[in-house]
Amino acid sequence: MSLESKIKVLEEKHKKAELGGGQTRIDKQHKAGRKTARERIEVLLDPGSFVEIDKFVTHTATDFSMAENKILGDGVVTGYGKIDGRLMYVFAQDFTVFGGSLSRANANKITKIMDLAMKMGAPVIGLNDSGGARIQEGVESLAGYADIFYRNVRSSGVIPQISAVLGPCAGGAVYSPAITDFILMVKESSYMFVTGPEVIKTVTHEEVTKEELGGAMTHNKKSGVAHFTAEDDDQAMMMIRELMGFLPLNNMEDPPRKPCTDDPDRINPKLDDIVPTDPNKPYDMKEIILAVVDSGHFLEVQPHYAQNIIVGFARINGQSVGIVANQPKVLAGVLDIASSTKAARFVRFCDAFNIPLITFEDVPGFLPGTTQEFGGIIKHGAKLLYAFAEATVPKITVITRKAYGGAYDVMSSKHIGTDVNFAYPTAEIAVMGPEGAVNIIFKNLDIEARKEKVQEYRDNFASPFKAAEVGYIDEIIYPRNTRKKLIQALEMLSNKSESNPPKKHGNIPL
Ligand code: HXC
Repeated sequence: MSLESKIKVLEEKHKKAELGGGQTRIDKQHKAGRKTARERIEVLLDPGSFVEIDKFVTHTATDFSMAENKILGDGVVTGYGKIDGRLMYVFAQDFTVFGGSLSRANANKITKIMDLAMKMGAPVIGLNDSGGARIQEGVESLAGYADIFYRNVRSSGVIPQISAVLGPCAGGAVYSPAITDFILMVKESSYMFVTGPEVIKTVTHEEVTKEELGGAMTHNKKSGVAHFTAEDDDQAMMMIRELMGFLPLNNMEDPPRKPCTDDPDRINPKLDDIVPTDPNKPYDMKEIILAVVDSGHFLEVQPHYAQNIIVGFARINGQSVGIVANQPKVLAGVLDIASSTKAARFVRFCDAFNIPLITFEDVPGFLPGTTQEFGGIIKHGAKLLYAFAEATVPKITVITRKAYGGAYDVMSSKHIGTDVNFAYPTAEIAVMGPEGAVNIIFKNLDIEARKEKVQEYRDNFASPFKAAEVGYIDEIIYPRNTRKKLIQALEMLSNKSESNPPKKHGNIPL
């Protein structure tokens, strides 16, 4: 065979592989409002940067006439490319080929790029769209899943792992995305569940649709399994690009610094008026965050879940930071099970990937009630305490108003290793709010006398001055200077070197 003919064969094979499960199935995918695996990768990565690996791999199954039913690539497109010029590994399940189901060969392709990513120290982005285990392959498929899970766990905290769920993701298949750092779902197009509506109907007699059970809003709002929602595949890919911009490629690197066009000395008088003087009046903590970060750009993580705490990424003077903030506008910013676990996981992510943490605090305490106590608020609240205390990245806290009780300690207080603790003049740092305190220690006084005591308590304790006198607050700052103060603190902390005692691993209260 001449070289020319050989090249023709190669070209034919490329064409065949690129057609996946064929035009009819591609059309079906498009009709459902979804892109194909290759189309998604094209949007995700810098133009022309994708290098595909294992394009001609086929499965090795023989049962159920599978030997005669082989498709090049076998239902997953794998390889590497770039986002903003930085190396990323990608796998994209191709629903047009056996429903993107996971075969032995298909799993080997995924684990190959996961191994490369670990050696090279680069993130893995998984685009999930699959009917689950390749039914015709039985245990080979289950083994393939476990091989992926194992690598997900070993890669955790070493390289960022991002999952987009862009179609079905059911059964045990959900556990790979669940172990990765962030899950992004597309509204009304993707779903995740361990057991589907049919099984649920048989076992518990509940009737529920796929969307209600495991759609994007269910996991972004109710379960907290997912972190981001997108309107469609294109937006999902752009969101991943934006997220990657805040993250280092691996745990040995610092996050990328971007040129900052926002004045580092910018003073914002608007900040003086955001926190109301009335301690019972709510306000939106996001206003403070947006006023302080570079160009008001804040990528909120889990914006729909446990809204009494805000977490997300921003840049301050070009430096990537993780922000954790109580939200007085929702449930008065109280800490409960959902908000504690949401913030704890975010804090641990930032710490694993060298992203400094900035905490804005206005917290009246932990949410009282039997639901919380029976649900284990003790161990869930402890997760946040553990996460902050364990984090060795630069940590800065700004107390804007309430810092009461155990929640004061938990929210990145000086005592659990925070490097710089600021407070606004409006801060109230005490064991509890004045009314609660007086009702306990002066319960025998009449109402009028109690009112006096409340005022006395407020004047004496509901301020940042006591804490500043003993050095638990480093500086009481003018709100308008917050940005400048944070930039100075971050600069001062830029060479921070701290490590936890050597151990196999800690035992965070799960
Ligand atoms: C092999 C599969 C497949 C699978 C779908 N297909 N799922 N092939 N193994 N698991 C094939 C179909 O035969 C079909 O092939 C094509 O993919 C598209 O599927 P449709 O059913 O036509 O598509 P749709 O109507 O959109 O429905 C999608 C679906 C459904 C909801 C995902 O296909 C489905 O329920 N699949 C089975 C899901 C499942 O039970 N998987 C096992 C879960 S257990 P043709 O040739 O017609 O195009 C599991 C365990 C993991 O995953 C354990 C890890 C520890």
